[in-house]
Amino acid sequence: MRRTVKAFRTSKGKRLVYLTAYDYPSARLAERAGVDAILVGDSLGMVVLGYPSTVPVTLEEMLHHTKAARRGAPETFLVADLPYLAYATLDRALFAAERLLKEGGADAVKLEGGEEVAEIVQGLTRAGVPVLGHMGLTPQTASLLGGYKLQGKRPEEAERILRGALALEAAGAYGVVLEMVPALLAKEITERLAVHTVGIGAGPHTDAQVLVFHDVLGLYGEFQPRFVKRYLEGERLFLEALGQYVREVREGVFPGQEHSF
Ligand code: KIV
Ligand code: NA
Repeated sequence: MRRTVKAFRTSKGKRLVYLTAYDYPSARLAERAGVDAILVGDSLGMVVLGYPSTVPVTLEEMLHHTKAARRGAPETFLVADLPYLAYATLDRALFAAERLLKEGGADAVKLEGGEEVAEIVQGLTRAGVPVLGHMGLTPQTASLLGGYKLQGKRPEEAERILRGALALEAAGAYGVVLEMVPALLAKEITERLAVHTVGIGAGPHTDAQVLVFHDVLGLYGEFQPRFVKRYLEGERLFLEALGQYVREVREGVFPGQEHSF
């Protein structure tokens, strides 16, 4: 049965599992694997659309993929990312959230940032939109942070991230993603927050965990960040199978008698 926002709100200390998914087959697999929540992340821009970053992803693209993921996982709590600049004002954020929840079938939205987005998060939650926060490395504004790298190493950075997480909680966020921060900082934030933290590259002490579907299955190129554990050499296995198909058709092995009418 699909979890409720309240179930996540009372999940502090439970080891919940989030996984991204972006379409019918990946969401179907995530649901059958028994994840607690699916994130239709704007990482889809990179792993399924081939963009160099999440910046170009549009609301229409998020909606298209959210609908497909929902069809694949009708029983799983589903969070959709608000894309870059879709929450620059509260009006825009409400418009985007309305579409992702009503048309897309999402249960909640996620957006990036701390104190600077607290007012938007408050406006959304007051309107009845469940919001997941996202601090640390925030890919939509990675350029401002100097690239895809560890955040919160310096004390003033760590302080900014902690303050941001607290501001998100005070604004009504039901949880906070912590991306690429030192494990000890994630531990401290997890202890300070009443809502659950969701780690990615944040060490073992967060309440929940999230990874990108294509990273878990080895389906996104050779580069593997340190925080990813690859549970399958997907690309290699897919290539072997596809190569065999190509060979067999060329050699007249497929289709055989058993595939024919
Ligand atoms: O877009 C995404 O997949 C994300 C997760 C990595 C947290 O935001
Ligand atoms: Na994202």
